[in-house]
Amino acid sequence: MSMDLSVVLELKTRKTELALPWDELQRLESFLGDTFGIAQPPADERYDYLARIRDTCGDRTADQFDQINNSRLERLSCEFPLPVEEQQFYVREEKRFYDLISTDPILGLVHSAKWPYIYDTAAYLTALIRIVGIDGPFIDIGCHAGYHALWLAKELGLKGIGVEQSKPAVRYARETAKRLGLTQAEISFDWRTITDRVPVGGYSLVYSSDGPIGITKESLGTVSKILANDGLFVCIGGSTPSMGKPEKDPPPEIVRDTLSSAGMSLLLADVVGGLDCALNGFCGNPVYVIARGKVPDVSDDLAIEFRTVWQDGFSDYCNTEGRAVSEKLVSKYRSWRTYGPRPL
Ligand SMILES: C[S@@+](CC[C@H](N)C(=O)[O-])C[C@H]1O[C@@H](n2cnc3c(N)ncnc32)[C@H](O)[C@@H]1O
Repeated sequence: MSMDLSVVLELKTRKTELALPWDELQRLESFLGDTFGIAQPPADERYDYLARIRDTCGDRTADQFDQINNSRLERLSCEFPLPVEEQQFYVREEKRFYDLISTDPILGLVHSAKWPYIYDTAAYLTALIRIVGIDGPFIDIGCHAGYHALWLAKELGLKGIGVEQSKPAVRYARETAKRLGLTQAEISFDWRTITDRVPVGGYSLVYSSDGPIGITKESLGTVSKILANDGLFVCIGGSTPSMGKPEKDPPPEIVRDTLSSAGMSLLLADVVGGLDCALNGFCGNPVYVIARGKVPDVSDDLAIEFRTVWQDGFSDYCNTEGRAVSEKLVSKYRSWRTYGPRPL
């Protein structure tokens, strides 16, 4: 089936239609909770995952987690560029972190702190795949335990692959695939390079959610090698040590110029996220939906593009009296707009 990318352009003024029906959102919630222990943190208190790790996994694991996590966070206050030894140190700490959080139950406890982004990203990708008619194969770059890739394979029957540098995370993802009754032909995971074993014609969907791929010359060069001619590249978040800076969203002119030099265009700029119980505030992750070629008339004013989702509508929805804290996610707002109130 050939994909109709004009559908994505038409979504520009109707982004809330990138929504899942309520029963499917519920299925997603159960999938993440039952399979990985990734669940929405309690709404009435700030989610203190270190305390939860201490209670559940003991002092030794909690202290180890705390030490590694603190040294990762230190990086955010560093002056860039970093000297080579420091860069190498932080890359090692990053790896230790993702290795450590690749077993139950710490995997679920830590990932639950990222609930608004993990859950919303899964809902967003599912809706986009349906609306555009993407039929795979897909690649998830920096997939960690494979929660997004496994959901897409299980829910949509889409074939794909997850690439992840943490070997314990890959082992976890492989074992989980088996547990879910998925074969290697349906979904596979490995830690080899992204450009190995690319399917004939390329991937119809390449995505990276808070992964090592961003809107950089280097990343787009890699994506170009593996993306099908009519495929979509969806870049979500994209904070990465290799970008050299800790800021999450590159400025609009950089996005435009970098994409254009790589022969690509932005079709849609969007947002996932919502009320973050670990941060105790609202936070959104930018989503860039990108295709090959030059697309005319696409707004590259990202501030406007993000604001049309985040402020126009979503904030009123969240501030409506009686709105449950657990409903304050962009994905639920989209479902509310598209399918009406959640059935009781
Ligand atoms: C912030 S996590 C995001 C995980 C998941 N995609 C999500 O949205 O929650 C980043 C992941 O990218 C992985 N990663 C970082 N650099 C990588 C690389 N060069 N190749 C493959 N995976 C990488 C890390 O090990 C980590 O699991």
